[in-house]
Amino acid sequence: MSTSAAQVVETQESPPLSVIVVGAGLVGLAAAIALRRQGHHVDIYDASSFKVELGAGLAIPPNTVRCLLDLGCNISNLNPVENLCFTSMAYDGSTGMKSDDTDYQARYGMPWFMAHRVDLHNELRRLALENEGDGQPARLHLNCRVISCDLEACSITLDTGAVRAADLIIGADGIRSTIRSYVLGETIAIPPSHTAGFRWVTDAAALEPYPELDWIVKTVPMGARLISAPVLPKQPGAVDHRTIIIYACRGGTIVNVLAVHEDIRDQDSVAWNVSVTQKDLLDFFSDYHPKFKSLLQLADNIHIWQMRIVPPLKTWVNKHVCLMGDAAHASLPTLGQGFGMGLEDAVALGVLLPKMTPASKIPSRLLAYERLRKPRAEFIAAESFEQQHIPAKRGLYLRSIEMRDQVMGYNVRQDAERVLGELLKGEWVSSTT
Ligand SMILES: Cc1cc2nc3c(=O)[nH]c(=O)nc-3n(C[C@H](O)[C@H](O)[C@H](O)COP(=O)(O)OP(=O)(O)OC[C@H]3O[C@@H](n4cnc5c(N)ncnc54)[C@H](O)[C@@H]3O)c2cc1C
Ligand SMILES: *[C@@H]1O[C@H](CO)[C@@H](O)[C@H](O)[C@H]1NC(C)=O
Ligand SMILES: *[C@@H]1O[C@H](CO)[C@@H](O)[C@H](O)[C@H]1NC(C)=O
Repeated sequence: MSTSAAQVVETQESPPLSVIVVGAGLVGLAAAIALRRQGHHVDIYDASSFKVELGAGLAIPPNTVRCLLDLGCNISNLNPVENLCFTSMAYDGSTGMKSDDTDYQARYGMPWFMAHRVDLHNELRRLALENEGDGQPARLHLNCRVISCDLEACSITLDTGAVRAADLIIGADGIRSTIRSYVLGETIAIPPSHTAGFRWVTDAAALEPYPELDWIVKTVPMGARLISAPVLPKQPGAVDHRTIIIYACRGGTIVNVLAVHEDIRDQDSVAWNVSVTQKDLLDFFSDYHPKFKSLLQLADNIHIWQMRIVPPLKTWVNKHVCLMGDAAHASLPTLGQGFGMGLEDAVALGVLLPKMTPASKIPSRLLAYERLRKPRAEFIAAESFEQQHIPAKRGLYLRSIEMRDQVMGYNVRQDAERVLGELLKGEWVSSTT
């Protein structure tokens, strides 16, 4: 970074920015951490009370780990399970591919691991809210639903009627974002993806009595196990591409299962998550080999989740308001990159809004944020869809070294610092001419 340019900004002695984050999901909390560390004053509003936390695992590939460390995460608080191989099996019990091509640590300097969502949420919340650490703690306001946003006043209205204004508003309010309509000036539809997943978790201890399940958490190396049914020529009423993805998290004590498949329901006429019975699950996989059925027979509290992607948006930013995370670019879980893209957004915005940034610079910094983040996040969303639906592209994110390097070798801080350096140079030139 050009020091003379940085000095110009710093001598202006701008006060900390006031920031409103809408949504205290994983990405909203990450944004709060990145901005409090720059000394800005952050208030987070979330509609939920967080009494019911969602129990499920999350794949954390190397680029995502890099961002977690960047934000100061203590990885051991995440009880990570390292992903050391991908074992794929055919639905009829025959052996499939085993990929030990997992040189992540050597190639990218970071591992790939699995974590439990609740552990991640707790760690990010700690870093956003605790007294320790740079800047002042963010304030978290629960049970506060945001119902509208005023771009001119840079304010939000809560369901109580209260209005809150700030220098910057971040819409990290998920795939069904409220803030998005204000940023775009219109409400867009999130189209059906014809993809859904059964999702549940089982205590690893419950697998103990079943030696036929030893391959899940006892066979080394540990890693993700995938059981796929063949893709058949399309038949009316038949379900295409069924894959059961299984991995351990929380130090190996919990087994996470996500069974992704073609969704032949009319997705717009059913809820985005629906509770189903174990019988529904067993019926759905009735042609699978008996050795997989013992796992299905241990399932309870099963939900079927629709998975959709946000189509490319005309913009992510408008005046002093921006979108982040799933609100801007939700993807299918195919590449395990949904959360990672949101984390990269948060790290990038923290870099682009350093201490002493004057509020008047926010609109141009947000445009730079959009230019930096939008192509990459939309590429991931499009790939997540194609690598699910186009048979020849399945698994490309693991098979292609170019794709792996592009997705997992990326360093968002480096890229954002380069962009900030260019911006500061431009601002310095315009302030002296
Ligand atoms: C089945 C499944 C599996 C996945 N697996 C992976 C994986 O392995 N790896 C990975 O990286 N990603 C995965 N993802 C994606 C990942 O979960 C998301 O990308 C990530 O959690 C998005 O976080 P977010 O904070 O942007 O949104 P959300 O988690 O949706 O958070 C939005 C928050 O905003 C709040 N909110 C919404 N509207 C309002 C409002 N009007 N006012 C106030 N608050 C509001 C909500 O209460 C919520 O807390 C998966 C997703 C699914 C569905
Ligand atoms: C990280 O957390 C673990 C507990 O999970 C703790 O023992 C350790 O001291 C922490 N490390 C740091 C650097 O805070
Ligand atoms: C599941 O769907 C219901 C109804 O749409 C919703 O109220 C609930 O919050 C959803 N659960 C989760 C964990 O998102």
